[in-house]
Amino acid sequence: MISYKSLTCSTADALVIYLLENNLKVSNEDLNKNISFAEDKGLFKGKSGESYSFTRTVNDTIQTVLLVGLGKEEDINLDKVREATGKAIKKLKELGITNIFLRVPHTEAIKLEELIKAMATSAELANYTFNKYKTDAKEEKELNVSISRCGVKEATKEIEDAINEGVEVAKGIIIARNLVNEPSNVIYPETLAEAAVNAGKESGFEVEVHGVEKIKALKMEAFYNVAKGSVKEPKLIVMRYFGDEDNKENVLGLVGKGLTYDSGGYSIKPTTGMVDMKSDMGGAASVIGALSVIAKRGLKLNVIAVIAACENLISGDAYKPGEVIGSMAGKTIEVVNTDAEGRLTLVDAVHYIITEEKVNEVIDLATLTGAALVALGETTTAVVTNNEGFFNELKSASEYTGDNMWQLPTFDDYKELIKSDIADLKNSGGRFAGTITAGLFIEAFVQDKPWLHLDIAGTAWTSKNSNLGVKGGTGAPVHTLYELAKRRSK
Ligand code: BES
Ligand code: MN
Ligand code: ZN
Repeated sequence: MISYKSLTCSTADALVIYLLENNLKVSNEDLNKNISFAEDKGLFKGKSGESYSFTRTVNDTIQTVLLVGLGKEEDINLDKVREATGKAIKKLKELGITNIFLRVPHTEAIKLEELIKAMATSAELANYTFNKYKTDAKEEKELNVSISRCGVKEATKEIEDAINEGVEVAKGIIIARNLVNEPSNVIYPETLAEAAVNAGKESGFEVEVHGVEKIKALKMEAFYNVAKGSVKEPKLIVMRYFGDEDNKENVLGLVGKGLTYDSGGYSIKPTTGMVDMKSDMGGAASVIGALSVIAKRGLKLNVIAVIAACENLISGDAYKPGEVIGSMAGKTIEVVNTDAEGRLTLVDAVHYIITEEKVNEVIDLATLTGAALVALGETTTAVVTNNEGFFNELKSASEYTGDNMWQLPTFDDYKELIKSDIADLKNSGGRFAGTITAGLFIEAFVQDKPWLHLDIAGTAWTSKNSNLGVKGGTGAPVHTLYELAKRRSK
C-alpha cells in the first residue's frame, strides 16, 4: 500500500512532472533547461504516453526527475492522467525508488480534486502485484507517495478527501482483483462467503450466508442443480447496506455471478478453456469490492447484493445435458448445455433479490459468455438492458471512470432462440448472438424491474500487463458501480 506522508518537490527521491504538449514549462529554471534539452533533442514532446527521465542535484542529494506527457491541453482527460501516473509509478518502482512526489498537472480543464483523486487511485493500482505464491519473490518495498503542487505546504480538507476517496476506490478494485486471482482451491463458496463477511466488517455492511438447506427450502432449483455436482457446499451470500434509512423501500440490487470454478460440467470445456476458470466469480468479486467502497465512503443510498456461489463440476450427482429442471420463479428450464451454468445460478439469485429482498432495480454482473470476448475483446463490457434511462446512467458513470461499456440489441427475434420444445426456456441459444441470448434468458426473470446485465467475461480478466495493472483479475467494473452509486447518493 502507498502512504501519503508529505514529501516536498525537493526532498523526494523522485519528482514526477506531468507536462502538456503545448506547454512544456515549469517555474524552476534549472528544470526548464533539462526539459528544453529533451525537447530540442526530440526525446520528449509531452505527447500522451511519452516519458523521459534525468537526474538533478537538490539539497546536496541526487533526485530523479521523470517527465510524463499528457498530450494537448484540449484533449486532456482523466484517463490520460491515470495512464501517465501508472506509467510513472511502474518506472520508478523498477528503479527501486520509493519516495515519490507526484506534481499535480497545471490545467484548467479538470478540477484539482478530480486530478488528485485519479492520481491516488492509479498510483495504488499501478503498485498492485499478486506474487504471494512465489516463494522467491522479493519483498515489496512500501511506497511513500505525495500528491501535491511544489511549494504548497498544507493540504486542504478537500484535497485530503480527494486522496482518501481515490485510495478507497483502488482498495475496492484490489479486493476484487485479489479474489479473482486466488486459485479455486483457496476461494470456493465457503471462503468466498468468508471474504464477504470480512469485507462487511471492515467497510460497514451486513452479511448473511445461507447453506444448502436454505437454498433447497427457497426452491432455488436452478442454482442447486449447478451446485450439486461438487462436494463443496453452495452458499447464498446476501450483503445489505442501508445508507439511506429514511428511504428503506428504495433499494438498488446487485447480483454477481459466483462460480468459484467452472469446468463446464458434462458439456466439458477443453483443457485450455479450463485453466483460468477460477475467474468465473469475477461478478461476485466486483460486487464485494464495489459494496466495500460504497459503505466505506458512507454513501447515502441503499444497496443489497446477492451472490449464488458454487462450483460447476462432474460427478455421479452432477446435472446432465437434456435434463429439465425447475427454478425459484417456477419456470422450467431444459438444460441443453451444462456449461451455460452461470445464467441458471443468476436467475435464482435475481428472483430471490426481487421477491425476498424487495429491491426496485437490478444490476447483474457476470463472466457469462465467451461470445462477449469475441465480440468486444478484453476492454469493453457488453450490456443488455430493458431500460434505456438506467443504461444511460451506467454509460455516463463509465465514461467518467474509463470502464468501457457497450449496449447490445434485444430484438424479439433473439428471444426465439431460447425457446424450448419441452420446457419454458432452454439454457443456451447456440453459437449465434450468445451474449444477447444469455442476457435475454436472465431478463425472463426480472419481472419488468429496471435491469442492467453486464457481461464481464472479457473485462474481469486481462492477459496483458498494463500501466494500471498486471495479468489476471482487473477489478472491473468496481469503479463504475461506485460512481453510479455516488451520483445517486444524496
Ligand atoms: N464462464 C463461462 C464464460 C467465459 C468464457 C468466461 C471465457 C470467461 C472466459 C460460461 O459459463 C460459459 O461456459 N459460457 C458458454 C455458454 C455457451 C455454452 C452457451 C460459452 O461462452 O461458451
Ligand atoms: Mn460455463
Ligand atoms: Zn461459467
